[in-house]
Amino acid sequence: MASSPPRVFLSEQQIQQRIEEMGRQISQDYPQGPLYLIAILKGAFMFLADLARAIRTPTRIEFMGISSYGKGKTSSGEVRVTKDLDVSIEGNNVLIVEDIVDSGVTLTYLLNVLGQRKPKSIRIATLLDKPERRLRPVEVSYVGFQIPDEFVVGFGLDYAEDYRNLRDICVLEESVVQP
Ligand code: PRP
Repeated sequence: MASSPPRVFLSEQQIQQRIEEMGRQISQDYPQGPLYLIAILKGAFMFLADLARAIRTPTRIEFMGISSYGKGKTSSGEVRVTKDLDVSIEGNNVLIVEDIVDSGVTLTYLLNVLGQRKPKSIRIATLLDKPERRLRPVEVSYVGFQIPDEFVVGFGLDYAEDYRNLRDICVLEESVVQP
């Protein structure tokens, strides 16, 4: 169990304000439903809950699980589906909902997998983006915050499964994070 108190990086209020803005933009861009929101477990669960409520377009809520082998704090490049969709997305508008885009490995894989299922369109919304860390170019249509390469937790994001329930997004002090 990690103990040191993390430092607030983005407050609950900043996060909520930005999600409202993102929801307005997405509602404008997709006037017709259903819009399939596909959240990637586990980190995106909290962002999904707030983003879905900020979107006025009728939505369908779906989940996928993705895992990267050998992943410590970085992606190894090997990705697999651990929980697939329960429904077809053929002919529908799809918005992948992520908590963070880091190397871009996960989303590159996912776009390939979902793209083969003939959606009408497919875009990405992420709360956080770390462009400095990108290994694979990936087009992200909706970004909450671009952030520097700091290890962040809270609002769904974890460190060794801790901190996901924090209301703010926080930076872990160096001493807490194992290399
Ligand atoms: C995080 C995040 C993305 C992925 C991004 O998930 O939710 O899915 O990493 O990294 P990438 O751009 O380098 O591929 P993680 O594997 O930590 O799982 P979790 O959401 O269950 O914590």
